[in-house]
Amino acid sequence: MLKPNFKEAKKRTKEDIKVLREEYVVPESVKEIGKGKKYFIKTYGCQMNEHDSEMISAILEDMKYTKTDTYEDADLIILNTCAIRENAHNKTFGMLGRIKHLKQTKPELMVALAGCMSQEESVVDEIISKYKWMDFVFGTHNIHKLPEILEEHLNTKKLEVNVWSNEGNVIEGIPAKRDSSIKAWVNIMYGCDKFCTYCIVPYTRGKQRSRMPEDIISEVKDLISKGYKEVTLLGQNVNAYGKDFKNKDYKMENLLEDVAKTGIERVRFVTSHPWDFTDNMIDIIAKYDNICNYIHLPVQSGSSRILKLMGRRYTKESYLELYKKIRNKLGENASITTDIIVGFPGETKEDFSDTLALAEECKYDSAFTFIYSPRQGTPAASMEDNVSLDEKNERLYKLNDVINKYAKEANDKLVGKVVKVLLESVSEKDSSMLAGYTDTMKLVNVKADKKYIGKIVNVKILEAKTWSLDGEIDE
Ligand code: 5AD
Ligand code: SF4
Repeated sequence: MLKPNFKEAKKRTKEDIKVLREEYVVPESVKEIGKGKKYFIKTYGCQMNEHDSEMISAILEDMKYTKTDTYEDADLIILNTCAIRENAHNKTFGMLGRIKHLKQTKPELMVALAGCMSQEESVVDEIISKYKWMDFVFGTHNIHKLPEILEEHLNTKKLEVNVWSNEGNVIEGIPAKRDSSIKAWVNIMYGCDKFCTYCIVPYTRGKQRSRMPEDIISEVKDLISKGYKEVTLLGQNVNAYGKDFKNKDYKMENLLEDVAKTGIERVRFVTSHPWDFTDNMIDIIAKYDNICNYIHLPVQSGSSRILKLMGRRYTKESYLELYKKIRNKLGENASITTDIIVGFPGETKEDFSDTLALAEECKYDSAFTFIYSPRQGTPAASMEDNVSLDEKNERLYKLNDVINKYAKEANDKLVGKVVKVLLESVSEKDSSMLAGYTDTMKLVNVKADKKYIGKIVNVKILEAKTWSLDGEIDE
């Protein structure tokens, strides 16, 4: 049994990060173990988790499992979990309650916990004491070990806990079964060293470690050869890409330029921390047409006092300076979105009005807004919090009103204009429509024939809603 350990997870040594290329192996004894069996994966949380699930799928299919979208039909259920806020936790435990019932009628069913919650000591302790009926637990650092963990469990028939809390290496060669054949996630780095005081990610995802540029570029080239139109470069703090390289000076701006030069039709990247956003990066984004004019720039709070308590390393003023620089260089047509937390411990009415004022000033295209959720083991969890939940809810509503107003305003400006949309799928709302995104990440529903799926087309915008646009093909 290998349990997670937050003390270990917090450590950042000077030890070299290794790139390991031969670590993924499927032992002979489990090569056919999934023949005639089905797996179901439930993914919670961010894009990183979605991409991890694509890898877990490919690994299971290497063992001959086939996919099902109905968990009741599955022989193996994997919950790929998120730890960022309490409600993500609650959803997972709710799902485990339902699965427990299923397992009572289907004793052969195997159930596993993966993802960020697996990296939390308290969660794993709870699984060991109250969820003994589960089959195995693995973490974010050892997805590639899934075949061996499964093999071990099949030998012992006991709950197998195998979670690493080391700083982590870069593992190459893990296959991925991508959900889309049009756009793809590409990891460029793992982990985070920023340690914002509210955030669990540096503990669950480990030390910041960048993939080698040549591995990223060859993955992008391979995706182009398979017909992919768009890649999203993924990391918790992509602007810090390359800072961990000891022997070369190669940063996010270099990577963005090299990825743009591959000729892929669209390049996106998430998530940016304002701290590492350089002028050169803005210039590169402006220079290349295939780098999308879409920047997700989390601000978290509009109060410099709260930003300091959050350990964000910038002030309201320096954030606004960066924001304006981006707007000026990329033009009014670029879209900028953000993340905001309300109700951080000790947030006063004045602090919150600073956040509202900042949202009014930035007029974001959209934003993810959250109520602060204490995460065990993080510094903010032990800060005194005297703001009531009612008050926090009220602040969230007020903030959302401002965010929604400007989201609608940004969409209204597009009515009558012709924009380029990458059509991806049949619209969820109306099966006679196709859905896709502009390079500025606006969702557009278009009345169009299915032959346009996978194509970037000119669309005339007819109507704006708060979170989407309707349009028609403009040939
Ligand atoms: N409580 C609320 N929101 C959080 N986020 C991260 N940690 C917490 C927390 N403890 C938000 C931040 C981050 C986004 C991914 O989730 O806004 O940018
Ligand atoms: Fe969490 Fe992002 Fe801060 Fe890293 S930079 S600690 S992932 S909020």
